[in-house]
Amino acid sequence: MSQLRLDKFLADAGIGSRSQVKQYLKTGQITVNGTVIKTGNIKILPDTDLILYQGNPVVREPHVYYMLNKPAGYVSAVKDDRFPTVISLINDPSHPDLFPVGRLDKDTEGLLLITNDGALAHRLLSPKKHVDKTYYTEFRGNLPEDAATQFQQGIDIGDKKPTMPALLQTLSESSALLTIQEGRFHQVKRMFQAFNCEVTYLKRIRMGILQLDDTLPPGASRLLTPEELAAL
Ligand code: URA
Repeated sequence: MSQLRLDKFLADAGIGSRSQVKQYLKTGQITVNGTVIKTGNIKILPDTDLILYQGNPVVREPHVYYMLNKPAGYVSAVKDDRFPTVISLINDPSHPDLFPVGRLDKDTEGLLLITNDGALAHRLLSPKKHVDKTYYTEFRGNLPEDAATQFQQGIDIGDKKPTMPALLQTLSESSALLTIQEGRFHQVKRMFQAFNCEVTYLKRIRMGILQLDDTLPPGASRLLTPEELAAL
């Protein structure tokens, strides 16, 4: 049975952020098997130790992972006052803590991972991890002949730094696959805009090892398979 740091267990269980958890510990609000514990760096056995916060048992929800084929018109957020959210497409009332891993624009479709596993989300989104994201794009305008080389070398999209090397695979005069490793705001649209091209349709088809399941119609989701999870 695997041991876990108490502060990590508490934060993963969702009682608060790491710094809030530290505060709860410091102020004696956490007990482990009846003893007040004030430091987070002790190891506990999540399945057998009784952990209480303000006298109530802390239960760690099992993590769940959904692959969603995001339709256009939905925002990548948990809550929004104006538009429907991607979370509203996941019918899972037993996991109120689900969130999307990263963002796709409202008009972008395709692969979005929905989970309650903050650590995994952090790993997949960290720019240092260089997780490949592949987009199918349709665009208006003419890309120069050497567009693939320029995308590979990095281009100026108006940020402090040029983009990291990206792989352009042209499919036709007006469609292409683009693989990027970053996730800057409107990045794909801005990369095409740098060549005076306007993206008219955008769909993410891959993120790291995860390939969009093409049997999922827009708006549909499914749990990741054990194989997909292991590979993640
Ligand atoms: N790049 C964009 O421009 N939009 C997205 O939704 C994702 C990547």
